[in-house]
Amino acid sequence: MRVTRTTWVPAFARTTSALAALAAAMDLKWVPAFARTTSALAALAAAMALVGCERLARNMYDGAKEKPLRPSAAFEDGSSSRPPIDGTVEHARGVLASTSSGRAARAAEDGRIAAERATAIPYPIDMALLRRGRERFDIYCAPCHSRLGDGDGMVARRGFPHPPSYHIDRLRTAPDRHFYDVITNGHGVMYPYGDRVAPEDRWAIVAYIRALQLSQDPPREVR
Ligand code: HEC
Repeated sequence: MRVTRTTWVPAFARTTSALAALAAAMDLKWVPAFARTTSALAALAAAMALVGCERLARNMYDGAKEKPLRPSAAFEDGSSSRPPIDGTVEHARGVLASTSSGRAARAAEDGRIAAERATAIPYPIDMALLRRGRERFDIYCAPCHSRLGDGDGMVARRGFPHPPSYHIDRLRTAPDRHFYDVITNGHGVMYPYGDRVAPEDRWAIVAYIRALQLSQDPPREVR
């Protein structure tokens, strides 16, 4: 049998304590010191043996598994992994990198990026867009800007600085992107809403603000 630390330790302990007992029977003066030393040694050896036991169970740590890029007998080409099949789309790069399910989120990612790049409202302005814009505006903007956009919202009435009315010339003639950027980054004391209002929704809000502006200042021909 292979001698491991676990097998020789009990034998060693038995031998030293037998020696100590023998010496005691012979009434030797040096025995107590010798006995103390040998039992301390035995205890130390036992402690080491316990550590050894844990080492013997090493296969609990190094399970039988294939590691990426290591050689393996599992496949004929000697590799532990399979090459990607033709047409595989990687999802750890580009627009798919920040999505959890790659393909499924691609359209959404592309839409978001297109919205972020646009310099003017990038969608056809229809009722669906305006309804969405009104809903988001009433939630996120009206508390300060009021549902009419004149800057007299409830939060402003209760002491927050009054925002400018959307119906002043400067904001009537401001480009769409200015409103988008104010939502994204905030403006003066107004804090940013980029973390709460998605890029597509920011454009829906801008479209609705344009509708509000028209409602208060219709072109001459429709007055
Ligand atoms: C907590 C109150 C509050 C909310 C909510 C709020 N705003 Fe404002 N907003 C302000 C204030 C105050 C100002 C003026 C800031 C300044 O000039 O220091 C302002 C300014 C603006 C301006 C004018 C920027 C300029 O060029 O002068 C726009 C446009 C605007 N907000 C759009 C929005 C939109 C869109 C939302 C909703 C997504 C929104 N705000 C939500 C308080 C708010």
